[in-house]
Amino acid sequence: MSSLEINALTVNRGALPVVRDVSLKVDKSSISVLLGANGAGKTTLLEAVSGIIPVTGGDILFDGHPIQRQTAGHRARGGLIHIEEGRSVFKTLTTRENLAVACHPDASVDEAFELFPELKQREHIAGGLLSGGEQQMLTIARAILCRPKVLLIDEMSAGLAPVIVQRLMAAVRKLADDGLAILLVEQFAMLALGVADRAYVLRRGSVVYDGEPKPLLDEPEKLHHLYLGDTETA
Ligand SMILES: Nc1ncnc2c1ncn2[C@@H]1O[C@H](COP(=O)(O)OP(=O)(O)OP(=O)(O)O)[C@@H](O)[C@H]1O
Ligand SMILES: [Mg+2]
Repeated sequence: MSSLEINALTVNRGALPVVRDVSLKVDKSSISVLLGANGAGKTTLLEAVSGIIPVTGGDILFDGHPIQRQTAGHRARGGLIHIEEGRSVFKTLTTRENLAVACHPDASVDEAFELFPELKQREHIAGGLLSGGEQQMLTIARAILCRPKVLLIDEMSAGLAPVIVQRLMAAVRKLADDGLAILLVEQFAMLALGVADRAYVLRRGSVVYDGEPKPLLDEPEKLHHLYLGDTETA
């Protein structure tokens, strides 16, 4: 049984379906990467899974149980944690204080410092003074202190240098190796494919690729065609 399974999901924005009949899964201890051009429906799909917006049709199964009628808060308390695009740190609180207000009562700040030792060196610095990469590390660390089972990550690399993105990808891979199920939406497609176990490509709301990352890594032009719709379904 997959930690997260989505069956025939359709999600409307207004009257228009922007996610259409999408099925995908994310297993424990693995990363599924969700790729696609701007406007393909990636964020909409994540928002429907975490409960920010309602689904129009289909099922979302979390550890085998349908959750599409649960509130977003209920899903989060159950361990389905969504890291939305943009870095959500408290700018006037220090790094340590940002971590200390994390949501799980048993979580310790030291767990976050283990994942990102870089943050330990910045523990007394205000969140707003951290670099973009450090803010993203802090955002991921705060999510980890919620003790997730499934982590949805939307565009964690936006605006960051490739060397920082590689650091973040390595941390996400470690989280998966430690047992998490991760659904990763990413514009740095090649770096994301390099750490993923399974890949999906969305085009205009529909899945046009579902399979191993390797064929896309080996043939970047194939990915380009999938994004733009110059080829038929893989
Ligand atoms: N709040 C909204 N109201 C109406 N339409 C929306 C809203 N948010 C997104 N859309 C539309 O839904 C479609 C899918 O958008 P979505 O943000 O899910 O795509 P995306 O794949 O995340 O794109 P990007 O790579 O730019 O982040 C687009 O056509 C977009 O214009
Ligand atoms: Mg998006």
